[in-house]
Amino acid sequence: MAEDLVNKGYTVIILDDLSGGVLENIPKGAKFIEGSVNDYELLKKLFDKEKFDYVYHLAAYAAESLSHNIRRFNYENNLIGSVNLINLSIIHKIKCFVFTSSVAVYGHKKPPLKENSVTIPTDPYGIAKYAVELDLHSAYRNFGLNSIIFRPHNVFGERQNINDKYRNVIGIFINQLLNGKPITIFGDGEQSRAFTYIKDISSIMADSVLNPKAYNKVFNIGGTENLTVNALLDMTVELMNISSYEKKYLKVRNEAKHNLASDELIKRYFNVENHTPIKVGLQKMIEWVYASNRVKKELPLKDVEVPINLPEGW
Ligand SMILES: NC(=O)c1ccc[n+]([C@@H]2O[C@H](COP(=O)([O-])OP(=O)(O)OC[C@H]3O[C@@H](n4cnc5c(N)ncnc54)[C@H](O)[C@@H]3O)[C@@H](O)[C@H]2O)c1
Repeated sequence: MAEDLVNKGYTVIILDDLSGGVLENIPKGAKFIEGSVNDYELLKKLFDKEKFDYVYHLAAYAAESLSHNIRRFNYENNLIGSVNLINLSIIHKIKCFVFTSSVAVYGHKKPPLKENSVTIPTDPYGIAKYAVELDLHSAYRNFGLNSIIFRPHNVFGERQNINDKYRNVIGIFINQLLNGKPITIFGDGEQSRAFTYIKDISSIMADSVLNPKAYNKVFNIGGTENLTVNALLDMTVELMNISSYEKKYLKVRNEAKHNLASDELIKRYFNVENHTPIKVGLQKMIEWVYASNRVKKELPLKDVEVPINLPEGW
């Protein structure tokens, strides 16, 4: 998205603490500041100096299933960090605040997930995202801060972090296949998700601030082609041309069996043109993985606060 904004001629300033991101992902032409959204003094200086028009807030630790076991970290990073940005956006009269929430706010609701349905998130990651959504509604009502909230789901593609074993199933499979490790699948692998190729959504989110009709609304954004985890693995193996590997089925996780977010609303407000077939997007991602040499050994175990009911293998 940052690259898209640079290409469109915006002055782009990226703040990232590099906890999940890497310097190689910073597009040419963007200014980079290494720091955390939890560092309020740094944020204050940045807002004073740069006089932002728009804020795009994507920083988060997005390991949804692990969030049960890193509750404090999850709320500090994903909720309080967001509130820091919202406070300063109010004070500095930002024109629009774009927030990447998640379909995690729907909890275990039956699909199709629609933006106006009751949201009861079932894990701390989803709760933090939903709390930020509510805070943005309140910031609009009380201070007039405009925002656009996107709820993406299962995004994949080039530049994704593929070294974190707690999230991004496609990255996990690619990493395990390249490191010759058993492929881990929670449950029977028949759970399905609609995967979203990043370039189908990044440009919509980048351009969204130019669409005032979308201000103060919430949109699902992402793919509508459902695929089971087993089918996803078969496709990944085929595209990587791997002849032998071992599968390891683990105890089922407490997660929705099927998820499908409705894209009716976003189509009414944005030009939703590209639906890259998952196989095409996956091929591009795999080519990038080989070309960029990003696969590393797994990152060490995150500091777990509640070492109870951890999914098998973690
Ligand atoms: N990838 C998905 O499928 C998906 C789905 C729904 C929502 N989202 C949301 O979209 C956003 C981007 O997700 P992504 O998949 O690109 O994840 P990502 O980990 O690749 O990107 C998040 C970035 O935030 C940075 N970050 C984390 N904590 C920070 C902090 N305290 N201060 C500054 N930077 C910090 C990380 O270093 C990383 O570069 C996140 O908010 C995520 O919750 C992602």
